[in-house]
Amino acid sequence: MSCSLRPVGHAHRARLERLTRGTGLFREDEVATAVELLDESLAGDDDYQFVGAFEDDQMVGYACWGATPGTVATSDLYWIVVDRLRQGSGVGTQLLGEVESRLTADGRRLVVVETSSRADYTPTRRFYETRGYTRTATIPGYYAPGDDLVIYTKDLT
Ligand SMILES: CC(C)(COP(=O)(O)OP(=O)(O)OC[C@H]1O[C@@H](n2cnc3c(N)ncnc32)[C@H](O)[C@@H]1OP(=O)(O)O)[C@@H](O)C(=O)NCCC(=O)NCCS
Repeated sequence: MSCSLRPVGHAHRARLERLTRGTGLFREDEVATAVELLDESLAGDDDYQFVGAFEDDQMVGYACWGATPGTVATSDLYWIVVDRLRQGSGVGTQLLGEVESRLTADGRRLVVVETSSRADYTPTRRFYETRGYTRTATIPGYYAPGDDLVIYTKDLT
């Protein structure tokens, strides 16, 4: 069943925080960052854009992206999160497709995603790899000793 894709508003702030925390993958400061980006977006900051995936009126996932400063038409996918209980049922694919369609429509060229090399991110890395993303770079020990930054990119042209 596909979700309806709609803007994320003030009314969804607490739900966004719970969804992000509920993945069990992110530290509390990272959860706080996701909420801060939503607040900035709702305050009119165009650097961050959000779309939510809804089942009826309940938000079950969201994505956040924005133009990468200092680049020509490169964009970062900052967050993509799906309710833990609904993962593996196509919501993330639907969100990613929506983000890529909007980026393409806006003339954006390259998508960059940063993730971690940790074992608990293996399904996340597989998600990107099977959706056309190339593992472009690694910075060893970036997040913590033994926890590398893994950068994926996708050419939209
Ligand atoms: C990564 C994530 C957004 C993918 O969304 P999703 O709705 O679970 O993904 P889909 O159902 O559309 O696609 C499933 C694919 O993603 C991968 N996947 C990633 N996490 C998965 C999970 N928990 N359960 C099942 N598949 C998962 C699988 O490779 C699967 O591949 P398949 O289609 O060949 O079976 C979601 O699992 C999630 O929120 N994970 C935790 C947060 C996270 O890692 N966010 C990205 C931070 S960089």
